Amino acid sequence: MQIFVSFSCLLLSISCSWATAVEPPFPQSIVEMINERSVLPSLINTTLLLASIPPATLDAFLATAQNTNNTLPNPIATTFFNLTTGIINETLTVLPLDYATARRIIPSQYGILTKSIHAVLPGFPADQYPLVLSTQIDHGLSTYGFATPDFTSVHFRFPFIDLLGDGYSTFSYEPGIYVSNDPIAIAGTLAYAEEAIVATFNPPLDPYAAVPGSRNGELYFDVLFKGNPALNATFRPQWGIYGEVGDYPLDFYTNLTNQPTFGCANSSCLLTCDNQIRFYHTNLTTGKYAPQGVSASISIAPSPNSGLSFLPNGVEFVGAKGVKVAQAFLELNYLDCKDLKGNTYLGV
Ligand SMILES: *[C@@H]1O[C@H](CO)[C@@H](O)[C@H](O)[C@H]1NC(C)=O
Ligand SMILES: *[C@@H]1O[C@H](CO)[C@@H](O)[C@H](O)[C@H]1NC(C)=O
Ligand SMILES: *[C@@H]1O[C@H](CO)[C@@H](O)[C@H](O)[C@H]1NC(C)=O
Ligand SMILES: *[C@@H]1O[C@H](CO)[C@@H](O)[C@H](O)[C@H]1NC(C)=O
Ligand SMILES: *[C@@H]1O[C@H](CO)[C@@H](O)[C@H](O)[C@H]1NC(C)=O
Ligand SMILES: *[C@@H]1O[C@H](CO)[C@@H](O)[C@H](O)[C@H]1NC(C)=O
Ligand SMILES: *[C@@H]1O[C@H](CO)[C@@H](O)[C@H](O)[C@H]1NC(C)=O
Ligand SMILES: *[C@@H]1O[C@H](CO)[C@@H](O)[C@H](O)[C@H]1NC(C)=O
Repeated sequence: MQIFVSFSCLLLSISCSWATAVEPPFPQSIVEMINERSVLPSLINTTLLLASIPPATLDAFLATAQNTNNTLPNPIATTFFNLTTGIINETLTVLPLDYATARRIIPSQYGILTKSIHAVLPGFPADQYPLVLSTQIDHGLSTYGFATPDFTSVHFRFPFIDLLGDGYSTFSYEPGIYVSNDPIAIAGTLAYAEEAIVATFNPPLDPYAAVPGSRNGELYFDVLFKGNPALNATFRPQWGIYGEVGDYPLDFYTNLTNQPTFGCANSSCLLTCDNQIRFYHTNLTTGKYAPQGVSASISIAPSPNSGLSFLPNGVEFVGAKGVKVAQAFLELNYLDCKDLKGNTYLGV
């Protein structure tokens, strides 16, 4: 597609770029960034990774996998045909941890970029740290036109990590995720040295269902680990003026969801980064699907029940603020984190 576009530009001698030829439009700066990053080497051979899943397990999963019908189709699957793209439909909730607790969980060799936190979250208390919980469905996943099934997951994202020690490049530490029993997603997570805690979700394939009897438009989402309650979430929409997303600016969410994630916390695993580039300008994130602020109650059980070794005592938050948002994304897997130095997202 890229070759075809440059050809017509050449033949017609008009000034054009392939950013103007793709739908929805992507600024040239973003297209250039994607082109540069898409040729970065992968530290893991994904063909071998996929081949490590027992064929019978994979076949059984593919035969029974379901896709949600509640999320729109992937609008960029053909735009970036040769790359992995999809949609994430999620709620991002900020869980303000006390700083000392966050510092104990984040591997001690990595600094926290507190200046960057306060640049995007002015007024955020200095003695707190924004752990971000995302309860999400991945939908419309496509690589070279090959589709993989939807899956549900919960991410515990510790953003603004100074992984490279340069004082400015932002990364997110993800020690582990809850994930539905999807062997592709599980193998993919383990290869990042993240714990893949297999869980069941209620409702399945759609982390939002109306709380029965609620007059406030409240939604709920439950995680069960080994059949026992591990995490409870209730989200109440926060109504505001049009485009309002609740207590934190949308730029904060754009920033943190575009930080590459990593799981490896020591020298005995491979330090490799997942670079998801999330787009906030497609019709999945605009108009009637514009981000919606939420006020959330989150309850996480202590670790034997939750399965979360990094949150041994569990946590309870009432009135935590967040946003319900869907985004198209493009994913570059298993990059050398060093190659993402200065990873500022240019925005679209
Ligand atoms: C995608 O890959 C195919 C085969 O490798 C190639 O012919 C095509 O130009 C690529 N498309 C883009 C948009 O890079
Ligand atoms: C979303 O945008 C794509 C192109 O960018 C278009 O094909 C599609 O019809 C749009 N979907 C909706 C629901 O507006
Ligand atoms: C990945 O492994 C496959 C199977 O062994 C091999 O054919 C392929 O060349 C490898 N890819 C890279 C980039 O090394
Ligand atoms: C989505 O729709 C398809 C086709 O009607 C159906 O087979 C599938 O069960 C639906 N998925 C869910 C999760 O309901
Ligand atoms: C995200 O999921 C919710 C709940 O199922 C649904 O109402 C909404 O339309 C989805 N968003 C998009 C952009 O598909
Ligand atoms: C190193 O960290 C990984 C997770 O990142 C963990 O699974 C492993 O147990 C740790 N190894 C040591 C020796 O601490
Ligand atoms: C979930 O909600 C129930 C009922 O409100 C509560 O008793 C329980 O402690 C909550 N927490 C977890 C982790 O399930
Ligand atoms: C997030 O914001 C900080 C502070 O402005 C900036 O230094 C960093 O590059 C941003 N990260 C991304 C991924 O854009």
